[in-house]
Amino acid sequence: MKSPIPDYLKVVLDNARSIESGAPASYIETLAKADTSKMAVALAMVDGNVYSVGDDQVEFSMQSISKAFVYAMAIEDRGLSKVLEKIGVEPSGDAFNQLSLERGTNRPVNPMINAGAITAHSLVDGTTAEERTERILRGLSQLAGRQLQVDEEVYEAELKSADRNMAIGYMLKSAGVISCDPRDIVKGYIRQCAINVNVRDLAIMAATLSNAGVHPITGDHIIPQASVRQVLSVMTTCGMYDAAGDWVSNVGIPAKSGVAGGIIGALPGQVGIATFSPNLDERGNSVRGVAICEKLSRDMGLHMM
Ligand code: DON
Repeated sequence: MKSPIPDYLKVVLDNARSIESGAPASYIETLAKADTSKMAVALAMVDGNVYSVGDDQVEFSMQSISKAFVYAMAIEDRGLSKVLEKIGVEPSGDAFNQLSLERGTNRPVNPMINAGAITAHSLVDGTTAEERTERILRGLSQLAGRQLQVDEEVYEAELKSADRNMAIGYMLKSAGVISCDPRDIVKGYIRQCAINVNVRDLAIMAATLSNAGVHPITGDHIIPQASVRQVLSVMTTCGMYDAAGDWVSNVGIPAKSGVAGGIIGALPGQVGIATFSPNLDERGNSVRGVAICEKLSRDMGLHMM
């Protein structure tokens, strides 16, 4: 029997199309030129079924969505206690690019804001920016189930306007959080953000988190269950930045957004969700993506509570 899910997803997508507010990220030239009419949504069930509608083959850079998975890789490569020595788990309530460290411990407050993500990047295996990015690209490709690529144009564009992230890198170095050359670490972090995906890739990656670290299609156990718990916890409290409270009350699914317009949601035991639409709200989250996730959560009873 034909599944009713794609027809339902089409209706959800078409409803969201009428939302005109927001604008693409302006601080990265290539993202500022994004075609804002593009939209897609995908659901990957933990049983391996994947449904997608809209511009589901259009590729866009992961940006901050990569932070959730790189945090898992840092835990794998260094162990959770070493990672916790360097990066906290408290929501910041601040913007994603806030220049701040936790009072008392001098750690970045959490791995989802840039300071914490740049630190997580520095903790994955590799001694150079190239080696770390290769390790991350390999890990993310395994999660997507296909070879992913860095979007060189997005990388170069972000590098040109990376003063703030460079400042965060130097702040981390001066606080003793990172020990290598901050420029090198930040360049690697920007490459990690520039890895291209489509919504189907992201839904499958999210579903791996929903499925306790087991890839829903290949059956490979990619992320240990204890790391999944850690990643989903910080996604719940910090994944949507200063909108985390609104998100948890309205949608109620551990999630992560990126400034290219992607959002992932991972509901344990059930489904991985991915949306794409480039217009962002003032907190850096996709306006239509948030609306789609709210509707899916309401209609399908996906809220955790
Ligand atoms: O660090 C940055 O500025 C970007 N490369 C990633 C930021 C991002 O995706 C924030 N999310 N909404």
